[in-house]
Amino acid sequence: MVIKKNVRKKIKKKIKTKIKKKIMTQGRKFKIGKPILEVKNISLSFGGVKAITNISFNVLEHEIRALIGPNGAGKSSLLNCINGIYKPQEGQILFKGEVLDKITPNFIAQKGISRTFQNLALFKRMSVLDNILVGRKLHSKANFLEVAFQLPRAIREENQNKEKCEEIIKFLEIENIKNTPVGKLPYGLQKKVELGRALATEANILLLDEPMAGMNVEEKRDMCRFILKVNDELGTTIVLIEHDMGVVMDISDRVVVLDYGKIIGDDVPDNVRSNKKVIDAYLGVAHD
Ligand SMILES: Nc1ncnc2c1ncn2[C@@H]1O[C@H](COP(=O)(O)OP(=O)(O)O)[C@@H](O)[C@H]1O
Ligand SMILES: [Mg+2]
Repeated sequence: MVIKKNVRKKIKKKIKTKIKKKIMTQGRKFKIGKPILEVKNISLSFGGVKAITNISFNVLEHEIRALIGPNGAGKSSLLNCINGIYKPQEGQILFKGEVLDKITPNFIAQKGISRTFQNLALFKRMSVLDNILVGRKLHSKANFLEVAFQLPRAIREENQNKEKCEEIIKFLEIENIKNTPVGKLPYGLQKKVELGRALATEANILLLDEPMAGMNVEEKRDMCRFILKVNDELGTTIVLIEHDMGVVMDISDRVVVLDYGKIIGDDVPDNVRSNKKVIDAYLGVAHD
């Protein structure tokens, strides 16, 4: 979606004060730290199609790292490698200095990496609260029988999980819709519920695949505010795929640019914006 220039300026202005404060290390509650995630020489092909070729980059603790590039550049595939949906044929991924060798989605989630998807993956008939509760599954220790017979541990856990989800709902300022079936909500709010579910896992890293795609300006502004809030107040490291360059430039600390499965830029937003290769490859390409 293309935002008109003057509207984009307004969004920038509104979030700029907060961002300026954030980039200055003094104003930041969680100081940017050592690499929490390191992608080393990853290559992935599907049959003859090379989706990713020899990609290396890192993500520092507490930073907001953007991943941009034209459609088909390999962005979603890269997130799928990080969270164990795809297995790269070559390369390594390190989390807190440790090689992730048995990468499965469940193992990755237990390590503290959570993910939202380019296309919504919610239970439409279930309420907001129940969808967010799904994110707590990872933390449940009660077994099937304990749950079925509502034994003490299951009840205790259920209450704790509910409490945690209520906290998240408050944090995201969506108390008024907590009992509404997700399918009845506008798209922007559904994406926010998906963010809520990812937060419920209490992950160290959130991988957000186009959390603002298809949103109107108001919804985008709202999502930006909450991504910043998650990063600022919870200290969560964020890897964000986003098409809107204005948004990317405003909220990210550093940007990786992909084109045809290769990295063509990796820098702070201002330098990426003026990188000729990036301008030619990315800005010149039309997006849906
Ligand atoms: N499951 C898959 N099977 C075959 N090809 C795939 C699969 N997933 C992605 N690809 C291909 O890999 C390339 C990168 O896709 P993708 O990672 O979705 O790009 P992006 O998210 O940057 O738009 C594309 O050529 C796409 O067609
Ligand atoms: Mg994608």
